Amino acid sequence: MIVTYRNNRFMPAVLIACCLWGIYYLVDVPVDGTVLPAWKPGNYHSDVQPAASADSTSTWSSPIPTPTPQENTASNQDEESTSADKGAKPQSHGGLLPEDVLLVMKTGSTSMWKRLLVHLTTSLAPERIPLENSVIYSDGAMTIGSFQIIDVLANTTAAIKESHPDFDVYRQQPFYDQHNAYVEAAGVEGDNYGPPGGWIVDKYKFVPLMQHAGINHPKAKWYIYMEDDTYLFLPNILAYLSKYDHTQAHYLGSFAGKSDIIFAHGGAGFAVSRGAWEKSFGQNANLAKEYEQYTADHCCGDQVLGHALNKYGVKFGENNGDEKFTWGFNPVVHWRFGFEKWNFCSPLLSWHKVHNRDVARYYDLEKYWNVTEKGPLTHRDFYLALIKPDLEKRAEWWDNMAEAYQVSSGNKAWPPTPKNGKHDEEKWKAAWESADACEEACVSWDKCVQWNWVEDLCKMDERLFMGQGYAPAAPERKTALKRTSGWLTERVDEWTC
Ligand SMILES: *[C@@H]1O[C@H](CO)[C@@H](O)[C@H](O)[C@H]1NC(C)=O
Ligand SMILES: *[C@@H]1O[C@H](CO)[C@@H](O)[C@H](O)[C@H]1NC(C)=O
Repeated sequence: MIVTYRNNRFMPAVLIACCLWGIYYLVDVPVDGTVLPAWKPGNYHSDVQPAASADSTSTWSSPIPTPTPQENTASNQDEESTSADKGAKPQSHGGLLPEDVLLVMKTGSTSMWKRLLVHLTTSLAPERIPLENSVIYSDGAMTIGSFQIIDVLANTTAAIKESHPDFDVYRQQPFYDQHNAYVEAAGVEGDNYGPPGGWIVDKYKFVPLMQHAGINHPKAKWYIYMEDDTYLFLPNILAYLSKYDHTQAHYLGSFAGKSDIIFAHGGAGFAVSRGAWEKSFGQNANLAKEYEQYTADHCCGDQVLGHALNKYGVKFGENNGDEKFTWGFNPVVHWRFGFEKWNFCSPLLSWHKVHNRDVARYYDLEKYWNVTEKGPLTHRDFYLALIKPDLEKRAEWWDNMAEAYQVSSGNKAWPPTPKNGKHDEEKWKAAWESADACEEACVSWDKCVQWNWVEDLCKMDERLFMGQGYAPAAPERKTALKRTSGWLTERVDEWTC
C-alpha cells in the first residue's frame, strides 16, 4: 500500500489489523507449503494470485493481475486411456472412478479440530469416496469414527525428532493431551491454543506421506493430494485425470516455482500418477529419510516433494513435464479469485484457504450437479450458483478488490487508462469524485465489470471478485472509512460459454 498523507489515518488501523492477523496465523496455521507461483510465458493458470503473498500481507492485499490467456494446449495432450479403464467398470468421470484413486488429506494436530472435521462428512464422506480410497496424514495418530489418522512423521529419524527445533511442536503437542488441554479453539471451557509452529513441522510430511501412500495403496492409479483448507471438486478432477495414462509419470496441479524447482502448489491440490510414484519412490525405499536434511534447509513441503520427484525424472506439467497446466487448480479461495472471460468456462478443480462453511456449500453444489445434463462444473457455474446471487448492484462497507485501474485526486490529470476496450476520458478523470462518479467511469469503460470507491479513490477492474464486507456490527465500521463496491453483473452475464 502506498502511504500518502491522505491515508495516514488508516495506518494505525492497518497496522493493528496486520498484527492481529499475524498473531492469529503464527499461532494457528500449518504452513501451506506455498510459494509465489511465478508466471512464465507458456504457463497457463487460472489465477496467479499467490497464496504465499496473501500469507505475508494483509488479507486485503491486492491480487496480482492474471496472465493473458493463451491457447489452451490441454486439447493437444495425449488422450490415451489404458485398456484397464475401458469396459470393466461403468463409465464415469471419463472412465476414472473414486475407487481408482487415493485421496490424500494432509492435516496437523494444531489444525485438525478446526478444519478437518467438515471434510469427514463431505470431501471424505463414504458416499463420495470409499473409506479405503482415502487416507489422512497428520503429525499425530488419532481415530475419529471410522477414520484413522496416521502419524506420518512416525518414522522420521529419531535424532531429528528429539532435537531439531522444527519438531518442537511435535514434541510438545502430546503434553497438551496429557494435561487435558484442548487445542480446538471451540469456544468451550478448557480451550488452549496449543504449541506454536504447527506450520514448521508441516513441511516434513510431504515426502513421507507420498512414500507411505504408494507403499500402502499400490493399486491406486492416482494419488490426489489435498490439505485441510483445500476443497477439491473430485468429479471434475477425475474427469481431468482420466485424459492421462496413469502408468506414465504425471505430476499435475497448479504451477509454482521456488529454489530452482517447478512444482505443484500444495494448497491448490495436485495429483501424482502411479507411474510417477514407481519412477521415483518405487526406485528408492529410503526417499523420505534422504530428504530430511533438504527439508530442514528449505521452506516448503510442496517444493521439497517436487525436488524429490524431479530427481527421478518426474517433472511437473501436462505434456510429460513441460510445466504447462490447465486452469482450475486454484491457490486462492473463491471470494479472492478474479473471474475473467477467459477462465470462466474452464472446469473448476479446487479452491484453497477455504473455511468450513465454504466446504459445506461447495459439497452441496458438487453433489447436486448433474454432469450428464449440464457437463462439468465450470467457474461460470460456480459463479452463478454461489456468487452472483449475493452480489448487489452496489454494496456499502464492502471491498470487492477491484484494483486494475486506480483514479484518485492525486493522478486525476494523467490517470492510468485501460489497455483494452474504450472508455470516456472525461468520466474517467472524474472517477475519484464520488461513488456515483466512480460507477459512471466504470460504466463508460466497456470492459469494466466492477468498481469500488473510498474518499477520493476509485478502483476499476475487468475481472470480477466477490471480496468481503464488514457486517453492521463489525468494529471496522468505527475505525475505517466506508468503502463502496459495485458490480456490473449484466456484463458478466454476456460471458457465455
Ligand atoms: C513406519 O515404519 C513401519 C515399519 O516399516 C511401517 O509399517 C509404517 O507404515 C511406517 N509409517 C510411516 C508413516 O511411514
Ligand atoms: C441427470 O440428468 C439426466 C438427463 O436429464 C437424467 O436422466 C438423470 O436422471 C439425472 N440424474 C440425476 C441424479 O438427477
